[in-house]
Amino acid sequence: MKKIAVLTSGGDAPGMNAAIRAVVRSCLHYEIEPYGVYDGFKGLYENNIYPLTRREVSRIINRGGTILGSARFPEFHEESYQKKAAKNLKDRDIEGLIVIGGDGSFKGALALKEQGIMTIGIPATIDNDIAATDYTIGFFTALDTAVESIDKLRDTSFSHQRCSVVEVMGRHCGDLALYAGIAVGSEFIVTPETGFNKQRTIEKVKESFTRNKRHAIVVVTEKMTDVFQLSKDIEQATSHETRATVLGHVQRGGTPQAFDRVLATEMAEHAVYSLKNNASSNVIILKGKEIDSMDMQEALNMKKEIPNKRYGLVGQLKN
Ligand code: F6P
Repeated sequence: MKKIAVLTSGGDAPGMNAAIRAVVRSCLHYEIEPYGVYDGFKGLYENNIYPLTRREVSRIINRGGTILGSARFPEFHEESYQKKAAKNLKDRDIEGLIVIGGDGSFKGALALKEQGIMTIGIPATIDNDIAATDYTIGFFTALDTAVESIDKLRDTSFSHQRCSVVEVMGRHCGDLALYAGIAVGSEFIVTPETGFNKQRTIEKVKESFTRNKRHAIVVVTEKMTDVFQLSKDIEQATSHETRATVLGHVQRGGTPQAFDRVLATEMAEHAVYSLKNNASSNVIILKGKEIDSMDMQEALNMKKEIPNKRYGLVGQLKN
């Protein structure tokens, strides 16, 4: 393996830069030429591929976003796009590609395998929705951002004796809401795993005000319900003013916290090492304290299960 390219794809996640840096530095360590693909699979298709130097990745370990840029590129489902992308790599004699992103990005990586490119995936998404790995790069930074924001909301909710309904990201995975909800001591958490029961949510908020609490917090995963309507319903049923806040893309930005930097660095080193040893179509995972790898297709087939025990903590497995 003489040349390896790296790209970031899908929704960006804090820690992607730390992973890019470690890919480049590990490549140089093994005397492999590192290349950066700009703007994900779109850039791969458009031939936006350039050599990366040690210098270019210095001082990025602590930066949010991704210096390579990212894109959602549904066109990549089409074989003609995959063929062109693979040709762009082959024309430069690049044999291996490291894809930093989520499950959609790994599907793109698998498609490239069919076109003769060796690929390794590194899981990076704030959603923590990849079952094969305990944690994805970016999850804990996004979680800290959500927790910090909700703590601030609690200050004002307390002053005004209000209920705060907070929508966090996560797509189809409730981890951000669940962990944030536990960390802020919320009254109720609504996730795709629990389902949404309006009556039960209202009852929980009512209960907390009955105990003479001055505020209540409900954390909801995006798309589970309209948080503005839910706020109106809570206000009507409890006679406590209620406000809805959608945290949105603020959760995707910011300085990656230490764990995400370490995870990104270790996963990236493992990815380069794997490619160097001719492993392909694998995804790098964290299991317990160990960095490991597993077959990418197998990883994509795995369904994420959240231990009942964790929901038990907040006593609300079934909403
Ligand atoms: O996958 C990361 C994520 O931030 C999800 O939590 C969210 O549903 C989605 O991306 C938003 O995507 P976009 O930035 O394309 O609007």
